[in-house]
Amino acid sequence: MLRNLLKSVTTRNLRCSIKNNGITSNFINQRSIAPLSTTELALKEEKVKVTFVLYDGKKLETEAKVGDTLLDVVVNNDLNIEGYGACEGTLTCSTCHVVLKKEDYDRLPEEACDEERDMLDLAYGLTDTSRLGCQITLTKDLDGLEVKVPETINDARS
Ligand code: FES
Repeated sequence: MLRNLLKSVTTRNLRCSIKNNGITSNFINQRSIAPLSTTELALKEEKVKVTFVLYDGKKLETEAKVGDTLLDVVVNNDLNIEGYGACEGTLTCSTCHVVLKKEDYDRLPEEACDEERDMLDLAYGLTDTSRLGCQITLTKDLDGLEVKVPETINDARS
C-alpha cells in the first residue's frame, strides 16, 4: 500500500510539470499542493463509478478510487483500451485522450494546464470537451463519470 501511495505522489508531481524538465517547476507550480490532498483521499479509499465508452459503443464500467487519475483507473482495472496511456502519465503522448459530456467537463475540479493543452492539440478528434485522462483526478463529485475514448489515438512521441 505504501508503494502505491508513493507511486501516486510521484505521478502527481510529474503531472503538468514534466514538460518543463525541471524539478524546480514542481515546487513553484501551484499544483504541487495537490499530492497531499489526493494522497489523503486515496487513504480513505472512497470509490466512484467510471465508464469508458469505446468508439464502437462498448462500455467498460469500472469502480475506481477517489484520488486516482483516469489513467490509473485503466491500468489498475486492466481495461483493454489499446494504446491508452503510452507515456504512463508523463504528458508526452496524448494517447489518453478522452471526450467528456459538457456537464461533466464543466464540473471537473481542475482546468487543463498549458502542457495538457499543448498535448491535446496533437490528439486526433479533438473536441471542446476533450481532456487527457492522465490529468483528470477523480473526486467524489465525479461519481458516475462517463468518458468517450476516440477511435484513433496519436502517440505524439512517434
Ligand atoms: S498518458 Fe501520455 S499524455 Fe496522458
